[in-house]
Amino acid sequence: MATLIQVGDIAQYDGQEVTLRGWLYNRTDKGRLQFLLVRDGTGIVQCVAFKKDLDAEMFALAAELTQESSLEITGVVRADERAPGYPGKFEVGITRLALLQMADEYPIQPKEHGVEFLMDNRHLWVRSLRQWAILRVRATIIGAIRTWLDDHGYILVDTPILTPAAGENTTTLFAIDYYGTPAYLAQTGQLYNEANIASFGKVYCFGPTFRAEKSKTRRHLMEFWMVEPEMAFFSLEDLMAMEEEFVSAIVGAVLSKHRMELDILERDISRLEAITPPFPRISYDEAVERLQALAATIDDPERKAELAITWGDDFGAPHETAIAEMFDRPVFVYHYPTAAKAFYMQPVEGRPEVCRSVDLLAPEGYGEITGGSERIYDAELLKARIDEIGISPENYAWYLDLRRYGSVPHAGFGLGVERTVAWICGLPHIRETIPYARMLNRLYP
Ligand code: 4AD
Ligand code: MG
Repeated sequence: MATLIQVGDIAQYDGQEVTLRGWLYNRTDKGRLQFLLVRDGTGIVQCVAFKKDLDAEMFALAAELTQESSLEITGVVRADERAPGYPGKFEVGITRLALLQMADEYPIQPKEHGVEFLMDNRHLWVRSLRQWAILRVRATIIGAIRTWLDDHGYILVDTPILTPAAGENTTTLFAIDYYGTPAYLAQTGQLYNEANIASFGKVYCFGPTFRAEKSKTRRHLMEFWMVEPEMAFFSLEDLMAMEEEFVSAIVGAVLSKHRMELDILERDISRLEAITPPFPRISYDEAVERLQALAATIDDPERKAELAITWGDDFGAPHETAIAEMFDRPVFVYHYPTAAKAFYMQPVEGRPEVCRSVDLLAPEGYGEITGGSERIYDAELLKARIDEIGISPENYAWYLDLRRYGSVPHAGFGLGVERTVAWICGLPHIRETIPYARMLNRLYP
């Protein structure tokens, strides 16, 4: 009896007869030889059907197999440096072939397809080599996030998705009807994290979050995954020190586990190997000065206009990219204008027009991957901010309670999984970083 194995483990079976179950990725017809590229979820291997080695019926079947047909193959593993596939270097000489289902004509061909077509067929596109590589890296990123936090004393405390009030702003809410009461899909778990730190000290929540972003960009999804650590007795400086360790560990986990996937994605690994602490830190003031100085050196009027900025403006994608290009690793930009940020951020002592906030901008134009701050912990100040921005105070009574029963300085941030995947994998667009993207014009499949 041949041993049932996975393609990812094939190197352990050199010279042995094995059985594989999977799908036909591609077939090359060479007359008396059929080269079947078979994938099974763990890898892709070339299996060779040779007319003289196989019974006539099985060889005829091999020669008819359509792309993505499901099958079971038994054969002998042999080392071959040139064998295509992943992890590669081995092929299988077929001795037995059984069909599970002959696939209909598969819509995704090796030829180029338009992105909209591929997104319409996302349920099939996820099988393609590149998508397979990206989503495997994504799984490791999520695992590395959890492992690092669990190993460093952070307690996972889940926060609700159905919420009675805005967590971040009132402009990107997804409203739903909750038995006659208006409710919203969570934009963040942060406000609940702030309650949870008084029980656990250091916590995190990790789940899908929702933003009705009425713009089409390469960086925005309507539904994205965010991990949000929140820590009692933490300052902005503590936050940056923690974030640089955390982000470096995530990159390190991908580098140590996914050389093959990064190779499939043609990722420049040297750019990732540079990601070690400390990360540079610049203030918003300095960032604006650097942008203005850069804009002054530029002749192209279009590019000049794109980079134009006056103090107080939030950064757009071109600004973030230009700042990030000044450094070889992620850069912290801290003390943003209070008016450009969320209501809960602690103002800077003696300079309330800026707040104790920090964003981390990824290199190579991937933009903001984390956003965080110290939180207002004085009840009166927080109440005043809530009134100022015009959200209903009744909905935030519980949040204000936190400032009345043992309030402490605290801070936290959120890291967007998809932007992190886009950066680490080197992808031009965020739509490939999540199995089923939710975008302005897309809710299917
Ligand atoms: O900066 P944001 O909006 O921060 C918060 O939600 C805070 N409550 C987090 C906290 O302090 N606990 O979002 C944090 C990160 C961004 O840096 C970005 O990586 C990602 O979430 N993000 C998005 N990713 C994809 N699509 C969108 N529409 C995103 N909006 C934010
Ligand atoms: Mg932000």
